[in-house]
Amino acid sequence: MNYAYHIQTYGCQMNVHESEKLAGILQSRGYTACDRVEDADIIILNTCCVRETAESKVYGHLGRIKSQKRAGAVLAVCGCMTQRRDVAESLAKRCPFVDIVLGTFNQCRFGEYLDEFLHTGAKIVEVWDSAREECAAPIARTSGVNAWLNIMYGCNNFCTYCIVPYVRGRERCRPLDDVLADVDGLLKSGYKQITLLGQNVNSYEHKGKNFIDLLKLLDNGEKYRLKFMTSHPKDFSTELAEQISSSAVLSKSLHIPVQSGSNRILKEMNRRYTREEYLAKIAGLRALVPEIGLSSDMMVGFPTETEDDFLQTLDLAQTVRYNNLFMFIYSRRSGTPADKMPQLDYKTKQARIDRLIKAQFEISKRIAAEHVGRTATVLVSEKDGDKCFGKAEDDSAITFDGANVAVGDFVRVKITSAKNANLKGEVV
Ligand code: SAH
Ligand code: SF4
Ligand code: F3S
Repeated sequence: MNYAYHIQTYGCQMNVHESEKLAGILQSRGYTACDRVEDADIIILNTCCVRETAESKVYGHLGRIKSQKRAGAVLAVCGCMTQRRDVAESLAKRCPFVDIVLGTFNQCRFGEYLDEFLHTGAKIVEVWDSAREECAAPIARTSGVNAWLNIMYGCNNFCTYCIVPYVRGRERCRPLDDVLADVDGLLKSGYKQITLLGQNVNSYEHKGKNFIDLLKLLDNGEKYRLKFMTSHPKDFSTELAEQISSSAVLSKSLHIPVQSGSNRILKEMNRRYTREEYLAKIAGLRALVPEIGLSSDMMVGFPTETEDDFLQTLDLAQTVRYNNLFMFIYSRRSGTPADKMPQLDYKTKQARIDRLIKAQFEISKRIAAEHVGRTATVLVSEKDGDKCFGKAEDDSAITFDGANVAVGDFVRVKITSAKNANLKGEVV
């Protein structure tokens, strides 16, 4: 008998990778992946709670899955949302058709929980307060030419709006040798891009070796592309900018979330840098790596944000000119300090995000137009017929025709046109 699993993932890359670990556990028990909930013997929702919208999506999907799932199929909910014990318990009550509810720290024992449930048939709700072990399960990778690789877990920063430190625990760095061995193995098995994951990779430290030491060791003469996320501006150093400039493997792109352009709001957010410090770091990086592609996260409607604070955020976006900007409306998260501050009304927040999105749309369009005529090295990640898709060094997405090109190739492509932010090119 062949059993099938279906995993639905919400949230960030970290969670995408956690789902690859859950899939690894299930595959080692003989289960195979399936696309449709209706075909699955086990369904897992790997949840996110960074914003309220992420949580409401989960409840919406649960309602649908209830009627779609096979009789006898096991339904499990895990991830950041159910790491909050109160949420785990209320979800178990509200949705009695859910069989297993786990926190993030319990997930790497998913196989054992599943066995227990299949044996006893009794609902399981278990949430540990902290990590008890590092997950040793095999990983069933799903991300094509790219492989995700944790170098650390958790976060110590406690930005006042953010739930992540509460659901992912304190910062824990993996041993340097383990990371190096994993990279070695991934390159041997043919991965062309590796993305190092951590909530704040800049603070990586293990036995006196820091993030820069790690990046130097990973510039190992192999031909591949190395990326990392996320980089906290307060810890972004000149040494890191120099490493990006000199490394043969590091992508010439950087995700460096600013959140706000107002010093007063940055302080309320506990971000521990000023607008001026942030801009000086960006200028220093651009002086060393002029072609760098920058992306960022920005939030509008943080408690007490005034029109003037918002204008400074808008101004910062226009000053930096990010290639890519992820824009969010501040969302209240219970248990965080910002939840207790005076809140803005929904209409104000919505109007501000609309203005920011509009401004960024124009910036992205112009940056794309500026790319026309340039030649880039593209890592091909998808191919459909002769149509190829991939990312350039600066993370620009480019489509082009490539009859003799294969997924995983690095190809020189001349950018011939730009429509909004979409680039087209031809092999040179
Ligand atoms: N560790 C990373 C990413 C954390 S979550 C970092 O520090 O950048 C990803 C993004 O979600 C954040 O950068 C932030 O912009 C957004 N975010 C976090 N909490 C939020 C909240 N309560 N409301 C709206 N957006 C939020
Ligand atoms: Fe959240 Fe701040 Fe940690 Fe990022 S650095 S995960 S925004 S607390
Ligand atoms: Fe990621 Fe969401 Fe958790 S952003 S760390 S999946 S709360």
